[in-house]
Amino acid sequence: MQKILITGGAGFIGSNLTEYFLNKGYQVVCLDNFVTGYRHNVEPFLQNPNYQLIEGDICDLEMCRKAVENIDYVLHQAALGSVPRSIKDPIKSNEINISGFLNMLVAARDANIKRFVYAASSSTYGDSVSLPKVENVIGRPLSPYAITKYVNELYADVFAKTYGMECVGLRYFNVFGRRQDSNGTYAAVIPLFIKQLMNHESPKINGTGDYSRDFTYIDNVIRMNELAMFTDNPDAVNTVYNTAVGDCTTLNDLIVYLKKYLSEFDEKIADIEAVHGPNRIGDIPHSLASVEKAEKLLGYQPSHTIEKGLKEAISWYWENLK
Ligand SMILES: NC(=O)c1ccc[n+]([C@@H]2O[C@H](COP(=O)([O-])OP(=O)(O)OC[C@H]3O[C@@H](n4cnc5c(N)ncnc54)[C@H](O)[C@@H]3O)[C@@H](O)[C@H]2O)c1
Repeated sequence: MQKILITGGAGFIGSNLTEYFLNKGYQVVCLDNFVTGYRHNVEPFLQNPNYQLIEGDICDLEMCRKAVENIDYVLHQAALGSVPRSIKDPIKSNEINISGFLNMLVAARDANIKRFVYAASSSTYGDSVSLPKVENVIGRPLSPYAITKYVNELYADVFAKTYGMECVGLRYFNVFGRRQDSNGTYAAVIPLFIKQLMNHESPKINGTGDYSRDFTYIDNVIRMNELAMFTDNPDAVNTVYNTAVGDCTTLNDLIVYLKKYLSEFDEKIADIEAVHGPNRIGDIPHSLASVEKAEKLLGYQPSHTIEKGLKEAISWYWENLK
């Protein structure tokens, strides 16, 4: 039976990957220190004989070595997310997202794992204004977080060239879906707006609301991880892919969708108006991915548009936040 190590497995994306691969019959090891992840995200798996939880920090190389023992594939998700968090504390983001990443690469190299698939980020496009974003046209980073994610790509590339490792980077574009954290200063916009609307509060948009994003439902991200991990196309490895839908939605339109789908549960939500504040430092105006490379080399087709994803996510939040 193939064994997968998912770092950051107590977080939003990592716990969804865990659930999916356990359901498919794989053995899953999770390495997480719960800095932003939650016990309730791993609790459903604890009794599964194919699941092992290792509580530890990727900044500890010996811990990384322990976690990769007898592992076939690594899905590396552990990192400190959020652009504003990295602006507030660049040293911490650098430590976890770069030094921790390097520890994982070294441990994976020494354990001769088959493939190292890692969470990269659309923030790597930085100040490039060209749309849609294609993998080989990037700009200069706009935040410490963006630097860390770009450095990950550089290290993975060098480890492939120098040590013959197989690495694939997935540049996630604004992922959303079940189990994404709706609490705290650094909550992502979709769970934050859903929670505010459910509480009959006005969601606060930074700026006029015409900034747009390629909001990507978690099931599309899971599919990209699966394709990247198992592809037998030699041209498809040691590279990076946009992990997105290939469609963009403005924040104003996002509010329209959220109100529409949430008011099916509570009709009062239809009357709530958003309020606007100043633009946030480090935010790029528009983000839209080309998914052509993933289609061509990995055979990827997004299963969920933003609307289909929002409907599923809202049902989950309604059941779990109410
Ligand atoms: N959510 C998005 O829209 C998005 C977009 C682009 C990239 N990403 C990347 O995807 C990955 C997963 O993001 P997420 O949204 O699930 O975030 P998350 O915060 O929910 O999950 C990250 C997990 O990593 C763990 N972790 C952090 N530092 C650690 C350390 N030092 N040692 C061990 N575990 C540690 C956390 O406890 C958490 O469980 C991250 O690498 C993030 O940068 C996410």
